[in-house]
Amino acid sequence: MNITKAVIPVAGKGTRFLPATKEVSKEMIPIINKPMIHYAVMEAVESGIEEVLFVTSSGKEAIENYFDRNFELEHFLEERGKEDLLKQIQEIGSKIEVCSVRQKEQLGLGHAIAHAESFTGSEPFAVILGDDLVLAKKPVTAQLMEISSKFGKSVIGVMEVPKSDTDKYGIVDGTFLEGNKTLKMQKMVEKPKPNVAPTNLATPGRYILTNEIFDCLREIPRGVGGEYQLTDAINMLAGKDDVYAHIFEGDRFDTGSINGYLNATVEFALRDPELKEVMVNIIKEKIVRYSI
Ligand code: G1P
Repeated sequence: MNITKAVIPVAGKGTRFLPATKEVSKEMIPIINKPMIHYAVMEAVESGIEEVLFVTSSGKEAIENYFDRNFELEHFLEERGKEDLLKQIQEIGSKIEVCSVRQKEQLGLGHAIAHAESFTGSEPFAVILGDDLVLAKKPVTAQLMEISSKFGKSVIGVMEVPKSDTDKYGIVDGTFLEGNKTLKMQKMVEKPKPNVAPTNLATPGRYILTNEIFDCLREIPRGVGGEYQLTDAINMLAGKDDVYAHIFEGDRFDTGSINGYLNATVEFALRDPELKEVMVNIIKEKIVRYSI
């Protein structure tokens, strides 16, 4: 299966980042000098995706503008000979086509993805949730694409989480195939309590879906939290067709939470050759100053 399209839902209110998100969409909050959405779109680009659909809501215009050209700024940088910065602001937008659709009411992730049907047509597509950043040698979406090409089916990216955390995620159950990284899925449950969770295999929001998902999205009732859950649609799909789950390789950061955001900021700085020493020195100085 050749996958060239990705859907990135960005309609959420970002309440965990209030008051910043009163006026700035959470996807535009930066980690170092790039907004969070940049990293999600880079993952798509590096996985061979050519077109991205943002499922947006009001107040999210900055996201589309970020991937568009800004001639005034380009002119300003050109005049001052800031070629490096000019290249940086043009680069991401030149690598991918973006378009958007408005989700007028926020009725859940399943409801958001249902808005992508005319964008994807009959093609399979990737879903990337921008709140979850995964640092990996091979982008996690590309890892899932490999499995989906092999089977020609939908594939859900999963990772092991502590059993006590199952109620934060969609949890997958199934039978391991040879190699113990890929499972044939039997079911998927949204945010089960630890005592009833079938496994500790959780999705951090990476999916390759075939377009049969749209029929399921039309059929599911409201689920956890009164929302239309993508998990419920995938669970329904697994009852009709083969669906796979794959334990991806990489380090995942929940940048939708303050703790995860801090963790990602420190990690990204430490992985940046120009910032590594700066960050190490800051941390060392704080340890001494506060006698930690
Ligand atoms: C959503 C999905 C959930 C998934 C999670 C990953 O939940 O419904 O299945 O595990 O994203 O971040 P949310 O965190 O939006 O409540």
